[in-house]
Amino acid sequence: MAEIVTAEELAREQEPRLITRHTFGVRVVHWWTTLTFLYLILSGFALGYPRMAWLLDVMGGGQSVRFVHPWVGVGFTVGLVFMFAMWLPSMRFHSVDRHWFRNLGEYVRTGHTDTDTDKFNGGQKAYYWFSVINGLVLLITGIPLWLPDLLPREWNLAARFSHHVFFLMAAGFLVVHVYLSTARFPGTFRSMTSGTVSRAWAAFHHPRWFRRVDAGREHEGAD
Ligand code: HEM
Repeated sequence: MAEIVTAEELAREQEPRLITRHTFGVRVVHWWTTLTFLYLILSGFALGYPRMAWLLDVMGGGQSVRFVHPWVGVGFTVGLVFMFAMWLPSMRFHSVDRHWFRNLGEYVRTGHTDTDTDKFNGGQKAYYWFSVINGLVLLITGIPLWLPDLLPREWNLAARFSHHVFFLMAAGFLVVHVYLSTARFPGTFRSMTSGTVSRAWAAFHHPRWFRRVDAGREHEGAD
């Protein structure tokens, strides 16, 4: 006897196994901040460490790098403002994130917790807030280095020191971020290239978000 297939079952069967996680606009903003930030890190190392001075030649010479670095910093800040605005609704902490942080050890060991994670987990939210605050501090401390006559000498020294410390923190956390988004969790990187993830990836890493997307309550899941 022929099997009766409901319209709903048929639609589910024909549905692509991929779901949208990040829209084109979100990806453009993310890669804009990434490219500008990578330039800032490389030029920052070149300007800040005599041993890395050879990088200055590769990047067009000391004078050019000194001129371009602050302007790229402005471009990075603009990207960060967009990043702040586009992800703010998804990045507020909720009680479920407390559960994620309590199980951080398990997450580090196994790459998973039984938290009913929404679009972003507690660690991702923490990285977002770190990036926003860090970007703000780099801007505030970078201005006196750009315009040295603005403030007294002692303030400039304090700005130089803080700019350096926050720069190193940003570089360190970026390494962790890249590792987690690529090698540690396969299937994540594609969310920032094609914008899609598999349904299995979504259900495993972000079950609460996945249920919402699956039930059609959030259009395709994208921000
Ligand atoms: C080559 C460098 C980078 C790679 C490969 C990368 C990769 C990714 C990927 C795949 C996601 C999506 C994660 C998901 O949907 O669950 C993501 C999200 C994110 N990225 Fe990046 N990213 C890079 C650089 C940056 C930089 C420079 C910043 C900040 C200035 C940044 C900030 C963020 C934030 C705040 C999120 C959302 C929260 C999170 O997933 O941690 N990323 N990134």
